[in-house]
Parts: sequence; C-alpha cells; structure tokens
Amino acid sequence: MKTQSLVAPSILSADFANLQKEVEALAQAGADWVHVDVMDGHFVPNLTIGAPVVKSLKAVTPLPLDVHLMIEEPERYIEDFVSAGADYLTIHVESTEQVESTLKSIRQLGARPGITLRPGTAIEEIYPYLGLVDLVLIMTVNPGFGGQSFMLEQVGKIAAVKEQLEEIGSSALIEVDGGVNEQTVSHLLAADVFVAGSYVFNCKEGYAHAIEKLKRRGG
Ligand code: DX5
Ligand code: ZN
Repeated sequence: MKTQSLVAPSILSADFANLQKEVEALAQAGADWVHVDVMDGHFVPNLTIGAPVVKSLKAVTPLPLDVHLMIEEPERYIEDFVSAGADYLTIHVESTEQVESTLKSIRQLGARPGITLRPGTAIEEIYPYLGLVDLVLIMTVNPGFGGQSFMLEQVGKIAAVKEQLEEIGSSALIEVDGGVNEQTVSHLLAADVFVAGSYVFNCKEGYAHAIEKLKRRGG
C-alpha cells in the first residue's frame, strides 16, 4: 500500500476574486493538482466557470489542471478545454450518448481522459470505458455543490473499479470527490487522488495542514 496520495483541491471553494493567489497558495501548500469544477446549470443545478478561466489558471500555475465537466453533451466543448490547458478532462457517463468517441477525442487532442458517474449510477455503467481512460472519478456527493456530506455507501465502488482496472491491466488512477476531509479520507485507502474543496479552503490551520492530513489519509 502506498503511503502518500495525490491531493487535488477543488477551487469551487476558493476566493474567485483572487484565483491566481489561491492557486499559488495551493502550490506552496503542497497540492498536487488543481481540481476545476465546470457546471452548466443543466446537467447539474449550478453554474460555475468555463474554458476562459481554465486558460487564465494555466498561465499562472505549474500544477496540472484536473477539469471535471458536469455539463450536457461535453463533446461540444472538449476542444475548448484542451486548448485552454486542461491536463485531465473528465466527463460524466450520463452526460452524453457519445462517451467512447468523446474520451477518444480528449486523448487525440492531447489531454488525459477521465470518466465519472453520479452516486445514483451503477458502477457497471462505466466498465465499457475503463480501457480508454487515465482517471476514474468516484463521486461521494451528488454533483453540483461543494460542502455536502460524504456518502459512505459509495466507497464500495472504489474496490470494484480497482478490480476491473487490474483485470484489464490499466494503471488509471482512482480519484474520489465530495465531502472528503481528515475523517472521511480514512475510508478511501484504496484511492489514488483526493479532491477536497471546503475542507482545504476552510481549514483553520491552513491549506498545508489540510493537504498534509489528506496525503497521510487522515493519520
Ligand atoms: C461537486 C464537485 C466537487 C466539490 C467538492 O459537484 O465535483 O469537486 O467541489 O467539494 P467538497 O470537498 O466541499 O465536497
Ligand atoms: Zn469535482
């Protein structure tokens, strides 16, 4: 078992008026990636940011940008997000009829494709696509908002996906997103990457403390 994991703070909980300072502070605090939540007000009932903000972030941070698309028909925007500088680009299996071709396009355009699913979606729905991705994102809240409670019953999906990835010889990373904090991370020992928004940005002891806690899986 690895002793350290990657931490990808979600800027959904950052100060949007000072994003450059925020990503600089995250790099300083030991963050591995920056998680960017893109919402369209249709696939999820919230609106956030688009490719122009990803482009601006790319110009001011050396950290890989982990872009989580919560938008309908993401194939319409793949090129914009890859051109803007997305390193990982993750789509929801429920968001398009064209999952396979969209994942292939992401890779052809030069980014690393990721697949994810809502908590209510059966894990088997993503199995056909595991051979096409570098990242599998397990949601432990309903996508749409930061600061929600961790859904413990979703944890079983991690082991299920891990087994499938091993079976096909894939080294795709498993990422968990939603309600991750120093307590809930102890349920996530088999995951590789932890997304955390409210826990990191609201941590009284500072970003570095929160990130270190997650890397040590709460210990
Ligand atoms: C929810 C987003 C998450 C969210 C996590 O739709 O995908 O990335 O920002 O926020 P916390 O860590 O506060 O649950
Ligand atoms: Zn996310």
